[in-house]
Amino acid sequence: MSAQARKPQPRTTGSMISVVRKLEGIDKSKLVNLSVNENAWGTAPGAEAAAVAAMAEARLYADTGAWALREAIGGYYNVDPACVVPGNGSEEILDIVGRVYARPGDEILAPALSFAQFRIVAWRLGVDYVESPVVGQMDVDVDALIAAVTPRTRVIYLANPGNPTGRGVDSAGLMRLVEALPPEVVLVLDCAYAEFGDLEAAATALHLAQVRENVLTTRTLSKAWGMAGLRIGWGVACREMADALNAMRGIGNVSGPTQAAGIAALRNPETPVWLEGIRQSVIDGRTLLSDRLRQAGYEVPDSQTNFVMARVPADAGISAGALVRKVAEAGLLIRACDDYGLDDWLRLSIGTPADMQKLASVLIEALP
Ligand SMILES: Cc1ncc(COP(=O)(O)O)c(C=O)c1O
Repeated sequence: MSAQARKPQPRTTGSMISVVRKLEGIDKSKLVNLSVNENAWGTAPGAEAAAVAAMAEARLYADTGAWALREAIGGYYNVDPACVVPGNGSEEILDIVGRVYARPGDEILAPALSFAQFRIVAWRLGVDYVESPVVGQMDVDVDALIAAVTPRTRVIYLANPGNPTGRGVDSAGLMRLVEALPPEVVLVLDCAYAEFGDLEAAATALHLAQVRENVLTTRTLSKAWGMAGLRIGWGVACREMADALNAMRGIGNVSGPTQAAGIAALRNPETPVWLEGIRQSVIDGRTLLSDRLRQAGYEVPDSQTNFVMARVPADAGISAGALVRKVAEAGLLIRACDDYGLDDWLRLSIGTPADMQKLASVLIEALP
């Protein structure tokens, strides 16, 4: 065998690794990014100053238990800090669940059109990924999800509300799902966009995670809290599951400056009002953009998130990909959804009123 043939062989495929999309000839760094659902208004009060101050201690390891952060999360959301799992973004917690509960031969289940990360978790582990059908265009079908459970199902991921769909399951649907599941199947309720949608459903998820032994809910400070670059998310589960997940996470998974930023924001007395302002700004921008695009012939399902989906009209004479380019030429970066099999759909993050007006105008003027 030649030396070339004997190099390490990745057990992966390139297409799954690459999440970066190219836009030939356009410098993406100069565009307003409306493609990854960031907070267009800023960072939660106190976070930035705390992160900068914590840099003075950069030579030290952060608290590996992240106890002060867990207590701050527990204090804000009224949960036992021992039941909190801090993550390097909530993305990491989604990954840890798979690592703790699934192995090759098992199945991970999620509704079709789910957040791509769920499939990636299964793929990393060599676990079979199973999708249940959606109802209508993109709504989660709770009964179909229940029906898709097999003796091999170990973990079910449900983003609520979903990405890329922006659609949600209500409290009653969540309760029905939990009641129907075998107790040995872990249900992950990923509520990354909780602050923008059905607050009752998010509260139900948090409640279920505390009273059921097989339910975990995940939240993030990346979206409404405006801390995406700091990487901080958290999960809540019963004590036994939280202990298992905490044991599996990297001990330095949340850096010192990030822990400090999270603690400062969670403890800042201005945060609740600031967050309510962000929610309202997102709802206003979502309404403005959805209304204008609908009037022009785009199909825009109601969204519970800080983004909307828009279907390019069949007679538009322009593809979703060409629209992404046109919008980029106007200074805004949006996302096509062909990787989800939604070839004629765009996903548009909600930003400032000026950017929403501009985005709507470009998308409308591109139609015949
Ligand atoms: C549905 C959903 N869950 C989880 C995440 C992960 O976010 P983070 O790792 O920044 O907490 C995202 C990010 O876009 C998301 O859309």
